[in-house]
Amino acid sequence: MITHFAKLELNTVSIQGVKQFYCNQLQFPVSFESMDEIHVQPSEHCTMVFKEADQPLNPIHFAFEVPFTAFDDVVNLLQGAGVTLLRWPDGRRVDEFETGKNVYFRDGDGNLLEILAHTYVQEGVLPPSGYLKILYLREVGFPVDDVMAYRELLVELFDFKLDTVLDNFTFAIGGTAHVVVVSKTRKWLPIAMTALQPAMDVTFGAPNARVLDRISNRLEGKSIPYNKGNDRLYFKIGEYSFHLQVTAFSENVPSLLELPNARA
Ligand SMILES: [Fe+2]
Repeated sequence: MITHFAKLELNTVSIQGVKQFYCNQLQFPVSFESMDEIHVQPSEHCTMVFKEADQPLNPIHFAFEVPFTAFDDVVNLLQGAGVTLLRWPDGRRVDEFETGKNVYFRDGDGNLLEILAHTYVQEGVLPPSGYLKILYLREVGFPVDDVMAYRELLVELFDFKLDTVLDNFTFAIGGTAHVVVVSKTRKWLPIAMTALQPAMDVTFGAPNARVLDRISNRLEGKSIPYNKGNDRLYFKIGEYSFHLQVTAFSENVPSLLELPNARA
């Protein structure tokens, strides 16, 4: 139903700082630039938008998936580009878990980025994009007051699947998109960063207009107001705005990637 994260819009206190980090160090291509806004493309199907805003920022957490066979090279590229990898309390920078590996680092606004790779993700389905070989934006963190109520609403509206279902943390998954529903009282790993509520706009990809119709019917059933166009849907749930857009990202990609929650 939901295929992927298509766009992530954040505020920044410095467009120049965004350029130095995302364009010079991470080498994301620029797709639009003005005095107070810049768009970069971590992958073909995902745009990140930074808008200059003269207000305090709450940093967010987001994560990119790279091919497992490329992970060690990507870590070397990050370090070669002068990116400081964050350490776990025991001093290590790379974490190896049952199904993969990851590293964390921060941008100039203090946002907590993660690069991760899973052994189960099939390679050759999506082209690795750019210098960092990014496959897709996998995670975006949504700190909320009530994790259980929020995840339930996401399941009811989007048919999201749940993973790592804890009282203070859950992955709510649609396609390649993993919404990290986290309690504002649970700190982000590995540096125990407070999970503040960020000002952000997230756009999810949908494969066709029928999906938007189905979700808008569900919103009506819950008396949640929305704005709808031919290929767009916009609404707010609690703390966050949601945009859905019909895109060319194929509905089959998550199962071709063999993501656990995409299996029949
Ligand atoms: Fe993460």
